Amino acid sequence: MAIGAKALPFTFVVHALAIAGIVMVLVWNIYFRGGLAWESTNKNLIFNLHPVLMLIGLVIIGGEAIISYKSLPLTKEVKKVIHLVLHAIAIVLGCVGIAAAFKNHNETNTPNLYSLHSWLGIVIISLYGIQWIYGFLVFFYPKGSSTLRSGSAPWHVLFGIFVYILAVGNASLGFLEKLTFLESSGIAKYGSEALLVNFTAVVTILYGAFVILSVLGQGPEEEDHSYSAI
Ligand code: HEM
Repeated sequence: MAIGAKALPFTFVVHALAIAGIVMVLVWNIYFRGGLAWESTNKNLIFNLHPVLMLIGLVIIGGEAIISYKSLPLTKEVKKVIHLVLHAIAIVLGCVGIAAAFKNHNETNTPNLYSLHSWLGIVIISLYGIQWIYGFLVFFYPKGSSTLRSGSAPWHVLFGIFVYILAVGNASLGFLEKLTFLESSGIAKYGSEALLVNFTAVVTILYGAFVILSVLGQGPEEEDHSYSAI
């Protein structure tokens, strides 16, 4: 499926929103929430790694991986390598980000996996990993037959979009949940931190929307079927 518009202008919006999202999540966690640490007596600093790595890793680098076929003026073979390497980085950062949330919970005697956000999170990282392994084996190495590849490509795109939309939605749930905790513990509902967190979620959702528009738009050299050769 493709829309008539060219993908390239959408990909520029994706890059701009990526910069905005990265700056906003870092300002929130470093300036408002006190910083980031893997080891600390202040356990909040360990938790802070979670939103930073989930947003920058899974959502932003994952989104750049998805649009790489549309955003880069390179050959398909090179774009395929960039696509799988960026997705691998997204998965590794996502796993470390989830480990940071578990570490914070374990070191503060908080139960694990009690929320919808956490359940969806485990489903998303698992599906993302399965999608990556299947894509690697079928499209890259050892590579399936051309029939298997052309049969798999539309499902790879559809399943990839599905998992990605879930990730963007779940990141938004995470922002909502954390902000609700913070507001219950006293931060102002219309204060600058609350506005920053809500607008970071808005930027996240817009980022996801422009990633999808880029996928549906026409690629630079191959008009409307840029995924055909993967
Ligand atoms: C798609 C990206 C994300 C995924 C896959 C994800 C996944 C997870 C998982 C698996 C947990 C459970 C940890 C445990 O039980 O010990 C968790 C906890 C948490 N996450 Fe996320 N997360 C994401 C993004 C975010 C973002 C952007 C925020 C914003 C602050 C956030 C806020 C939270 C909070 C507050 C918790 C602790 C409460 C709870 O377990 O629900 N998450 N996340």
